[in-house]
Amino acid sequence: MEKERAMAVVVLLCLVVVVELPEASATRFMVGGKMGWNSNVNYTIWAQDKHFYNGDWLFFVYDRNQMDVLEVNQTNYVSCNAEHPVHNWTTGAGRDVVPLNVTRHYYFISSKGSCYGGMKIAVKVENMPPPPKAAPLKSKSSVLTPSLRSQFVLSAVFAIGAMWDALVRL
Ligand SMILES: *[C@@H]1O[C@H](CO)[C@@H](O)[C@H](O)[C@H]1NC(C)=O
Ligand SMILES: *[C@@H]1O[C@H](CO)[C@@H](O)[C@H](O)[C@H]1NC(C)=O
Ligand SMILES: *[C@@H]1O[C@H](CO)[C@@H](O)[C@H](O)[C@H]1NC(C)=O
Ligand SMILES: *[C@@H]1O[C@H](CO)[C@@H](O)[C@H](O)[C@H]1NC(C)=O
Repeated sequence: MEKERAMAVVVLLCLVVVVELPEASATRFMVGGKMGWNSNVNYTIWAQDKHFYNGDWLFFVYDRNQMDVLEVNQTNYVSCNAEHPVHNWTTGAGRDVVPLNVTRHYYFISSKGSCYGGMKIAVKVENMPPPPKAAPLKSKSSVLTPSLRSQFVLSAVFAIGAMWDALVRL
């Protein structure tokens, strides 16, 4: 009885560790940096030196009275057509978070005319490369470095091992 319960606790802890690791290295990109989602930014240039990985987020901050955030397909991105959005991410607060959780191209525009002035962004979402060959981290703001990451994994493994010992002796 006791042992089964202890086992369940250990399994649960392992799951928590496994589930939390990818999140620790996800990045939330503030679209346009300090300029935000705005008509004076060239988003092609903003995006070109960045890597977007599965699990990252785009954070759009803008004037809710003038802009919005619509996900469209490639054709409608090129032509600034907001008629048939794939997804309307506008919540109304002027602060919208978009999870990039599929490896594919994403296209976003602002309707209300500003798309023609360049308020559009295309990002290609890729799978995170394996840790040893960690791709450039320079554009990432809050990631664990590979060594911190392995330290974290190691201490988690030790913690679980210690807990296992303690529980087995119950
Ligand atoms: C995008 O959607 C439009 C309909 O709004 C369609 O005519 C067009 O073929 C689609 N383009 C792509 C690349 O899927
Ligand atoms: C998108 O959703 C917002 C909030 O629900 C709504 O106010 C807006 O009209 C929608 N825009 C489009 C183009 O559907
Ligand atoms: C991606 O996120 C969206 C919005 O939260 C959700 O509806 C969708 O199911 C997710 N897709 C996958 C593959 O996780
Ligand atoms: C943004 O910059 C790219 C690369 O320099 C250029 O090709 C594109 O025309 C610019 N877009 C706008 C809307 O100015």
